[in-house]
Amino acid sequence: MPVLAIASIVAALALSLAWAAGLLGGRTTTRTFLGDSLDHFEPGYRRAHGKGICFAGVFHSSKAAATLSTARVFAQDQVPAIGRFSIGTADPHAADTSTTTVSMALLLSADDQSQWRMKLNNAPYFPTRDAEGFLAQRSAFEPDPATGQPDPARVAAFFEKYPEARKAVEYKATAPGPSSFAQAQYNVINAFILLAADGKRQPVRWFMRPHAPFHGLSVEDRARLGHDFLFDEIQQRVAQAPVYWDLVLQLAQAGDPVDDPSQPWPAERQQVVAGTLEVTGIRDQAEGGCRDINFDPTLVPSGIALSNDPVLAARAGIYSHSYNARLREIAFGKATDAIGKKDDK
Ligand code: HEM
Repeated sequence: MPVLAIASIVAALALSLAWAAGLLGGRTTTRTFLGDSLDHFEPGYRRAHGKGICFAGVFHSSKAAATLSTARVFAQDQVPAIGRFSIGTADPHAADTSTTTVSMALLLSADDQSQWRMKLNNAPYFPTRDAEGFLAQRSAFEPDPATGQPDPARVAAFFEKYPEARKAVEYKATAPGPSSFAQAQYNVINAFILLAADGKRQPVRWFMRPHAPFHGLSVEDRARLGHDFLFDEIQQRVAQAPVYWDLVLQLAQAGDPVDDPSQPWPAERQQVVAGTLEVTGIRDQAEGGCRDINFDPTLVPSGIALSNDPVLAARAGIYSHSYNARLREIAFGKATDAIGKKDDK
């Protein structure tokens, strides 16, 4: 009898663990977002934004945000920065012309030992109001094997469920691609909360505004460019002189949605330039310090809090799966190219 009781407790535990891991009932978990890419991907590379390059620099605080947030980065003169530029494709060997999405990841380490990690994209907003919309969009736009094109009925059903996604899809189809990482504006997209010393809570989004003027590329221009034109250009540019972005805080007003990354706030909302990022060095990602960092945007210093944006919450788990997978592959000696070693096989 006790043996039966123990066996049923063990079985119940195993079932609940399997459910929690998403192995039962087809439940969406953070791992679902990576599909089969965790196990079918070039070892050691990120499962998205695989092609990247590390950078180092300094964040010069303007002190203008110190009254809005107690985060030390807003008060310290110079904060060491490490980051990564990437393009928005999973394939670490993709052509730079394969996407118009460019990204910046950044880690600021203040002298009170606090860290501020972030990931930013040149897209102005997320297509959908929730993270499940990302999966719905991916499956709706999957090419039909018979025609090589997305099935119009599935696309229409997606837009019916996520009408807000139209503007992101149209933006992506028409926005000119950047001709340099240095000229792109990088947006945080999700909302956060600034916490002031007097207890005030200010919802905020921020973006990195480049000092270099933007020169967009037409489809014809892009067709003439080399496979690594963005990565070659940023190495040459930073070798000659530092590159700068202002960190601009956009302050929400009452009623602006803080839990919906598909809805940008009105452009006339107050902006505060919290400081300037100076990028001084570039290093290949196989050896650079950014390779083994998870730029998890939920790792914020005290003085900044997370909003209840569901996409922000989902991203923490997704990034953790990708990070754990790639670091495990490196640790077990499975990665070659990703860590700058020749594959001898
Ligand atoms: C459900 C939505 C999303 C999914 C499934 C997703 C998935 C991923 C994955 C798997 C990685 C690789 C992470 C690593 O191995 O360290 C990644 C990287 C990245 N993601 Fe996302 N992401 C999502 C939303 C976003 C949003 C909203 C932004 C922009 C604000 C963003 C910006 C980035 C950037 C910049 C990187 C490259 C980070 C680096 O250089 O280390 N992602 N994403």
